[in-house]
Amino acid sequence: MTDKLLTTPFTDRATAGEVLAGVDLSGRRAVVTGGASGIGAETVRALAGAGAEVTIAARRPDAAAPLVRDLAALPGAGPVRAAPLDLSEPASVDRFVRDWDGPLDMLVANAGIMALPERVLAPSGWEMQLATNHLGHFALVTGLHTALRASGSARVTVVSSGAHRDTPFDFADPHFTRRPYDPWTAYGRSKTAGVLLAVGVGRRMGDGITANALNPGYILTRLQRHLDDDTMRAFGVMDADGNLTPLPFYKSPAQGAATSVLLAASPLLDGVTGRYFEDNQEARTVRGDEDRPGGVAGHALDPVAADRLWEVAEAALRG
Ligand SMILES: NC(=O)c1ccc[n+]([C@@H]2O[C@H](COP(=O)([O-])OP(=O)(O)OC[C@H]3O[C@@H](n4cnc5c(N)ncnc54)[C@H](OP(=O)(O)O)[C@@H]3O)[C@@H](O)[C@H]2O)c1
Repeated sequence: MTDKLLTTPFTDRATAGEVLAGVDLSGRRAVVTGGASGIGAETVRALAGAGAEVTIAARRPDAAAPLVRDLAALPGAGPVRAAPLDLSEPASVDRFVRDWDGPLDMLVANAGIMALPERVLAPSGWEMQLATNHLGHFALVTGLHTALRASGSARVTVVSSGAHRDTPFDFADPHFTRRPYDPWTAYGRSKTAGVLLAVGVGRRMGDGITANALNPGYILTRLQRHLDDDTMRAFGVMDADGNLTPLPFYKSPAQGAATSVLLAASPLLDGVTGRYFEDNQEARTVRGDEDRPGGVAGHALDPVAADRLWEVAEAALRG
């Protein structure tokens, strides 16, 4: 936790492209997980647009083909390619890591799934949201340690969510073996784990590697695909005819990607680590049950929980 919150000139409506205006990333290399759609695709667009070489890590690399083609035609954009990665499968993460060659400057842990209606277990035996959103990214970050070290000033950026606020990580029952499964608790917990991952990187990895986490805000994307129409209507984002109707405070994907690229590539974040941002500013620390929206819960920045979760994930990957 910090005394003084870091601020930037960018408002909550800034786009990723605006945040990186004038930033030259040529010669810098980035990986964006889930970069074929939604916030990830706009993160890729902004990083490549600033000249970075970007690898889209996608479980369906074909889905990234239109974006790769688009960016190949964009004057001044860095080279973009797609590579297969299924975060829910440790063997797939291992393959991605084995195939990676050379230094890595920016790793954006963006991919995620939300509110699976039923409890599903991944091949690791972990609950699927936690396995995908957290364990897969943990394996990727730690597997790529040598590549991150080789950068000299690598940044890890973890896309979390405001959903972390009322869900401390439950070390006693992380996979709902004792208590009934709840889709939102599972999601929130996986997003708390993401912030703890950013805290853990700063504490455990060294080598000039920094890590921060963020809430992108509300954006209509494929993330909501597991929600039924009644839930979408209750959230106020679907009309009676089934049309999607974003509320005024919702962001476009390009606005949603702004905080991601701020943390991944802006000089304003040089040397900053273990913090949580939203709307392009560092967030204040709140109690999880506070009424006001926004902010980061103390349980997500807790260094003791970060170390403990690091050890749990390491043990899980050892098998
Ligand atoms: N949208 C919001 O309002 C919001 C709010 C807070 C936080 N977030 C976070 O923002 C991030 C991006 O979400 P989004 O809104 O842009 O949704 P999205 O378009 O669904 O993007 C999520 C990406 O993750 C990929 N993915 C899912 N499971 C994967 C796996 N096992 N291995 C590799 N990739 C996988 C998806 O690929 P497939 O197409 O193959 O499924 C997709 O490309 C997520 O971490 C989400 O939790 C979003």
